[in-house]
Amino acid sequence: MSDFELLMPVFLTDFLADGLASHFTLHKLWEAQDREAKILEVKDRVRCLISGGIGRFKIDAGFIARFPNVELIAHMGVGYDLIDASYATANGIMVTNTPDVLNEDTADIAMALLLDTTRQIPQCDAFLRAGKWLAGTFPLTATLRGRAMGILGYGRIGKAIARRAEAFGLKIIYHGRTRQEGVAYPYYDSPVALASACDILMVVAPGGPATRHIVNKDVLEALGPDGILINIARGSLVDEAALIEALKSRAILGAGLDVFEAEPKVPQALIELDNTVLLPHMGSATHYTRQAMAQLVIDNVISWTSGRGPLTPVAETPWPRPK
Ligand code: 8YV
Repeated sequence: MSDFELLMPVFLTDFLADGLASHFTLHKLWEAQDREAKILEVKDRVRCLISGGIGRFKIDAGFIARFPNVELIAHMGVGYDLIDASYATANGIMVTNTPDVLNEDTADIAMALLLDTTRQIPQCDAFLRAGKWLAGTFPLTATLRGRAMGILGYGRIGKAIARRAEAFGLKIIYHGRTRQEGVAYPYYDSPVALASACDILMVVAPGGPATRHIVNKDVLEALGPDGILINIARGSLVDEAALIEALKSRAILGAGLDVFEAEPKVPQALIELDNTVLLPHMGSATHYTRQAMAQLVIDNVISWTSGRGPLTPVAETPWPRPK
């Protein structure tokens, strides 16, 4: 057992906690009666913080600064917007995340939400269960036929979604920070331009201040009355108030959302609307993928402590470190 000490502020999975505890000294902050006393007790010994979960616990500059000897923040998740990566970079702290292992399950959820929203699958299910079929058929729904999908954020998960969308016969276009070399799909240089040219807007970009509310009133208007918004990325990307207005006024047809601005709190207005399908952030939430994510967190810490460097450092903290 190594004498490397880690602090995990919130519970993530048993597999992760047990795996880390079998190699290292793991301080489980969520089990402490008095969290503050626990932090004071271990703060000088902790060399790694383990983060994860969405919106639950921010690893901000103030929190990181409490651990003067921290050298690694290992995050369970591909999106690490709850970590202050600039502060980590400025202080020589390595940050790792868990890319790739969740691409396929997350892309599945994206397509499931798209089908659910377009074909009103949850509403059909509720209709049958309520015994309404005996009195008549469910109204006809919208279709995926003849549609174009605009992928906002054409990264690893965006590409896994595109592969699925191809099989559904959808035309694919994309927007991201830059046009990508070797990508044949048409590129649009702004979210409004993308939304004007498609009727399914698939939001897959990273969260954080740079992308806050990039899907706003103008983008939703450009998407138009047949438009369907799917967001499997971060709630912060979409101006939720503008979305609620667009859904109420039928400026767009519907929205399928796996993420929300203040999750797990979901605005009542979204819950009451009949043209939404809402999921409790299920993108990577399968036994298979969460285990792979947890294993990658463990492997990153093992690789780091054995002097081989991180396996999957985030963009802000590249490895080997630039000279
Ligand atoms: C999880 C996610 O909700 O990877 C991400 O960015 O949003 C999800 O996989 C979470 O990070 C699990 O800890």
